[in-house]
Amino acid sequence: MVDNRLVIAVDGPAGAGKSTIAKKVSEILNVEYIDTGAMYRALTLKVIKNGIDSKDVKNIIRIVSSTSIYFKDNHIFLDGTRVDEEIRKNIINNNVSNVAKIKEVREELVRMQQKMAEENNVIMDGRDIGTVVLPNANFKFFVTASVEERARRRHKELLEKGEKNICYEQILSEIKERDRIDSTRKIAPLKKATDAYEIDTTNKSIKQCTDEIVNIIEGR
Ligand code: DC
Repeated sequence: MVDNRLVIAVDGPAGAGKSTIAKKVSEILNVEYIDTGAMYRALTLKVIKNGIDSKDVKNIIRIVSSTSIYFKDNHIFLDGTRVDEEIRKNIINNNVSNVAKIKEVREELVRMQQKMAEENNVIMDGRDIGTVVLPNANFKFFVTASVEERARRRHKELLEKGEKNICYEQILSEIKERDRIDSTRKIAPLKKATDAYEIDTTNKSIKQCTDEIVNIIEGR
């Protein structure tokens, strides 16, 4: 366990509501929020912008060590440029799992994440936070929802962002594919830490899930 600090790990599959919930909890408890998925997304954006295929492991490894990714005032910066919106596009959704399964990419990003969590009170969300990045976190949560519910949420989100040519069935099959890659990869696959609380968000509001987490942390 980490002494004198509040270190919270939140893991779970795509579209389960992790980021929304973790952000709300960070505001309630006044701790720093770190979205590690956004970091893998930012690197994927760089890969695509450089015309590199997301399966071209050699060239991706070549750029990772010279890439700067950091958060400032809850915005993410890639090599000094703010990329909050660009990293949420569907082209990133569909390529990020390939980039995130590369061993050297994970080593570098995990190093950055551990450094970010070194001194502050933090809530960090991702896939391997409770198992690999912050195994000594004070609290671990595994946030899930049915795959159909997660696809519905992602579909709505993309429609709201103006990506109109995507149907629900396509999103459902893309999410299943991402789940498959994220949970079966050799390094740090998505899995619930044995000491994590499971929060199923399927039929609950954001507020209900946030309250559940805050109550556990505050020992109520
Ligand atoms: O949570 P998200 O959808 O923004 O994550 C984007 C991708 O990054 C997802 O396919 C899995 C990967 N990821 C990871 O492998 N490890 C993390 N700690 C966070 C995300």
